[in-house]
Amino acid sequence: MSYDSAIAALSIDALKFVKDKSVVGLGSGRAATALVNSLASLIKIKKYKILGIPTSLQIKLIAEQGGIPLVEADQVDHIDVVFDGADQIDGQKFVIKGGGGALLRENILFSLAKKVVVMADKTKFVKNFNRTVPVEVHPLARNSVTKSIQKLGGTSILRSLDRGYPFFTENGNIILDCDFGIIKNPKILTQKIKQISGVMESGIFLRKPDVIYKAKTGGKYEIL
Ligand code: A5P
Repeated sequence: MSYDSAIAALSIDALKFVKDKSVVGLGSGRAATALVNSLASLIKIKKYKILGIPTSLQIKLIAEQGGIPLVEADQVDHIDVVFDGADQIDGQKFVIKGGGGALLRENILFSLAKKVVVMADKTKFVKNFNRTVPVEVHPLARNSVTKSIQKLGGTSILRSLDRGYPFFTENGNIILDCDFGIIKNPKILTQKIKQISGVMESGIFLRKPDVIYKAKTGGKYEIL
């Protein structure tokens, strides 16, 4: 089932949160890509002077193709709105992110933004999280974090590329995809994960989105 037409439609609607001179955080992945393409059209038509802040090289390339002026997060004193996708959204509106490995920069932007807008198709909405949690880890802490995750009741797998080479994030870290089964208290679990030495970021974000778009079939969507 494809939700592409709904994601394209909602990415246009979501532009109502962008004004002239807005500083806009650009998440990573397919939904963020649709948004960035729509944003590129908007600024051409309306001649808006916006600044985009990319969360990964993936989205930076898309933004560059669209002619969106870019800066880094440490070059601005505020972010008006950040747009991003998600890997899963639970009934409390916590999100799991990091499927593409950009969680550290995405979380920085979530925490800085005045408004966070998340866009995802309906398959990603669950009552309780039931997928793995990406955890970005300093490479030297691989074994110690693996053991600490076990002490929290989880198991973890080192994310790797097709031929078995480890996946490295843009920050030079590794990702442990951690299975905790069904997660009923994401806030407590995240606090515990973030206390582990060597953990750079957890894929469960404590900042909840302000606006959530749910893509449905037939090009339809709903705003939560
Ligand atoms: C990147 O690390 C992720 O957090 C993505 O934002 C997330 O995986 C959603 O991506 P899609 O929009 O491609 O499903």
